[in-house]
Amino acid sequence: MTADLLAGRSFAVLGAGKIGSLLVRSFLAQGLVTAERLRATVRRPERAQVLGRELAVVVSTDNVAATRDADVVLLCVKPQTVPGVLAAIRPELGPGKLVISVAASVPTEYIEQHVGAGVPVVRAMPNTPCAVGSGMTGLCAGRSAQPAHLETARALFQAVGRTVVVEERLMDAVTGLSASGPAFLYVVLESLIDGGLKVGLPRDVATLLAAQTMLGAARMALETGDHPALLKDAVTTPAGCTIDGILELEEGKLRVTLIKAVVKATERAGQLLVRA
Ligand SMILES: NC(=O)c1ccc[n+]([C@@H]2O[C@H](COP(=O)([O-])OP(=O)(O)OC[C@H]3O[C@@H](n4cnc5c(N)ncnc54)[C@H](OP(=O)(O)O)[C@@H]3O)[C@@H](O)[C@H]2O)c1
Repeated sequence: MTADLLAGRSFAVLGAGKIGSLLVRSFLAQGLVTAERLRATVRRPERAQVLGRELAVVVSTDNVAATRDADVVLLCVKPQTVPGVLAAIRPELGPGKLVISVAASVPTEYIEQHVGAGVPVVRAMPNTPCAVGSGMTGLCAGRSAQPAHLETARALFQAVGRTVVVEERLMDAVTGLSASGPAFLYVVLESLIDGGLKVGLPRDVATLLAAQTMLGAARMALETGDHPALLKDAVTTPAGCTIDGILELEEGKLRVTLIKAVVKATERAGQLLVRA
């Protein structure tokens, strides 16, 4: 199904920064796209040279040329840069080309207004674990996007992790939870490692123990479908060690802090676009 939807298509990744270049690497590694059928762009010519060598694809600063040759255009620039890039590439777009935007906080309606009538637009919110095939991407379709367009976007991101289709009004929440989420969890991970160091574990051992535990706990939640409270209870024996640790977490307000982190990141996601 993935191969059918993507076979023979040409791609442009406009703004091959952190997320754009990570997606290019992953799509190439997964064989979803061939280097010959992919063009990427950045802002600085010197960066284009370095990245072109690194990725072994054509990287330029010319968004218009990259878009002209593409069937699918992935917009991976910062929200503030979106208006300028859309204005430049508009003449190259039409109903036969699909625009997939990963820019946080930029609604499909805004993109549609700037790319002209009938151009299909899909909004995607991936996260950095796409780099290791464990990404999480929220997707929603704009007004001119047909189910096949959404499926094409889904096929791309499904190859580098899991996907979920949501109503567009929830995309800022997806940004605040799963796009920002890896950073929150790295803070938790780093803290667990520091805890391991404090009780005498070598750093490499503490890192392995903490990271594999985080991975395992997440897989338990996904694969059993059990409520996290139930999974927590299975670890927590009466008068055992875990309940002492949980008491510390509650006193330190870990729950409320994480909830507020998601709320704040979601609110910020709604404020990023500079309207042109
Ligand atoms: N990072 C994440 O985890 C993540 C997750 C989901 C969505 N996003 C979204 O992805 C977008 C990019 O974020 P990022 O973290 O990857 O930022 P980033 O690393 O700063 O990447 C932005 C890229 O855009 C390039 N650029 C700037 N102006 C351009 C122009 N006019 N034409 C072509 N390329 C241009 C920059 O080029 P230079 O390299 O030459 O400066 C850079 O490579 C944002 O809209 C963000 O909301 C990010």
